[in-house]
This record gives sequence, structure tokens and C-alpha cells, in this order.
Amino acid sequence: MADRKPTRIALPTELGIQSWLEGCAQGYLAGTKDGRPPDASPPRDLLENPVLRAESIRYTVQLLVAERCSLAATAGLINAAPWESCKRYLATQVLDEARHVEIFTERLYELGVERGELDVTIHEYAHPDLLGLSELVLERVHRGDVLAGLVGQGIVLDEIAAATYEMLEQSVAVLDPAFSHAIGGILRDERRHTDVAERLIRELLTSHPEKKVELAKLQREMTGLIVRTFEDAFRENPMPEEFRRVAAELRREGEVLWAGIDLLASDGREMEKALLHAVGERLKTRFQGFGMESYTTVFV
Ligand SMILES: [Fe+2]
Ligand SMILES: [Fe+2]
Repeated sequence: MADRKPTRIALPTELGIQSWLEGCAQGYLAGTKDGRPPDASPPRDLLENPVLRAESIRYTVQLLVAERCSLAATAGLINAAPWESCKRYLATQVLDEARHVEIFTERLYELGVERGELDVTIHEYAHPDLLGLSELVLERVHRGDVLAGLVGQGIVLDEIAAATYEMLEQSVAVLDPAFSHAIGGILRDERRHTDVAERLIRELLTSHPEKKVELAKLQREMTGLIVRTFEDAFRENPMPEEFRRVAAELRREGEVLWAGIDLLASDGREMEKALLHAVGERLKTRFQGFGMESYTTVFV
């Protein structure tokens, strides 16, 4: 990125390694294993139900693909970012993303994927548009384009992830409260990542306003791909109905509210619509945060 005016960025000490250790590793992760109470494992109602187990593998693979992209992109940004305090902050994010990758990898094994079959399973289930979205981000990072990398990974990808985790934290809690706890921890990490990314992008854009058009195009391309990924993930998916039936059998009644819908009474189309709306609102707010509100695509 050619510097017209050199941008000096110094992040505060609360975004350094020591604060991360105290707040995250020794804070909300203290006493957990893979983000859960140490002896927790998936419930039999999930493992012994072929529909729930197969669909859980399918969505966990998508989460793993997204987190692997976040890990690779964040690691690449450490070298691309010229500011020392940012490098240290990004090192904490690398550990967060690596932790997320590990949690979803272990989850796939718990769901019955054989260790030697991990790559085959990912290849079989990963949505091609999600892989395409990862390539869009990683191509920017490999080019050393810090601003595009931060927008692609730190804002668009992490806000898609955060909205998805918010929904999952609620729905997973019905059958598997321990895994819902792990999702809640991941969500806390993602909120930190998007807050910091917004702050860095705001500062960088003051020196590089000419990048706005290109960044808006990246956002449009990425959100186009995620719309297609969500369409295929939710429509005609047998999981919501089976989930509702099992929850009723277990007498888990009442509402599980998220984003204005009851997750125990919604079909795949309603869930897809609510999730896309949540992603759109999050992106709008972030783009406002760094002065690009007029460039935001309203896609739902
Ligand atoms: Fe993550
Ligand atoms: Fe993240």
C-alpha cells in the first residue's frame, strides 16, 4: 500500500498480550477445555440421531472453513502490518482463531468423523462459495494489503461469524448447553476482533480514502457469496424440523428467541432470512463506524 501520508498506529496496552492473558486465557476461558466444562461431551440425543448428527457435521465444516481462513489471514496480517503494537494485538487474535479451529476440529471428531477422514469430510461438505470467500480474503492478505485484509477478515468474515455464533449459541443450548458455552466464548473473541478491526480501519482510511471504492467492492463480492452459502445451508434442510421434534420429545418447550424469531418454531427459510438480516445490520453499523456508510450494500 503506497503511503501518501504515513499512518502511525499505536494500540493501547489493553490490546496487548498481558491483557489478553488476563481477560481471555485466565479470564473467561479459565477452567474450560475446548471452551467447555472439562468433562462435557455431545449428548446422546444428538449423536444417536442420524439427521441431527449429519447436519451438525455439515454446519461444523462450514464454521471450520471460515475459522481456518481467519487464522491464515490474521497470521498473514502480522507480517503485513508495519506497526509493532498491531503485530502484538494480531498475535493474540491468531491464538483466538487457532483456538476456534481446534474447537471445531475436535467437535467433528466427537460427531464421529474419523481422524484420518478430516480432509475428505471437509472436501465433501465445504460450500464452494465459502471457499471462494476465503480465497478473496487471503488473496488480499498475500498481497500485503492490510486495509483490504482487515475489512475482509476483521469485519466482513468476523461479523458473518459473530451473527452465526449468536444464533447458534441460543439454538445449541437446547440440546447441548456445554457446547453452547464454547460458542459463547468464541463469540466474545469475535466481538473483540471486529471492534479492533473497525478502529484500525478508521485510522487507516484517513490516509487512504481512495481505497473506499475497492473495499466496498470486496464487501459486495463477499456478501454475495455468503448469501448463496446461507441459501443452500438453510433451504430444504431437514434439521429445523427434526430439532423441533427432538426438543418436544425432551419437553424443551417455550421459546428460544433470537433476532425476533423463535428458533424452536422457525423453518430453514425464516432462519436464513433472520441471519442475513443480522449480518446486514452488523455490517451497516461497522461501515458507519469507519465512515463508509454510503458504500454499504443493503442486501436483505
Ligand atoms: Fe474466529
Ligand atoms: Fe475472529
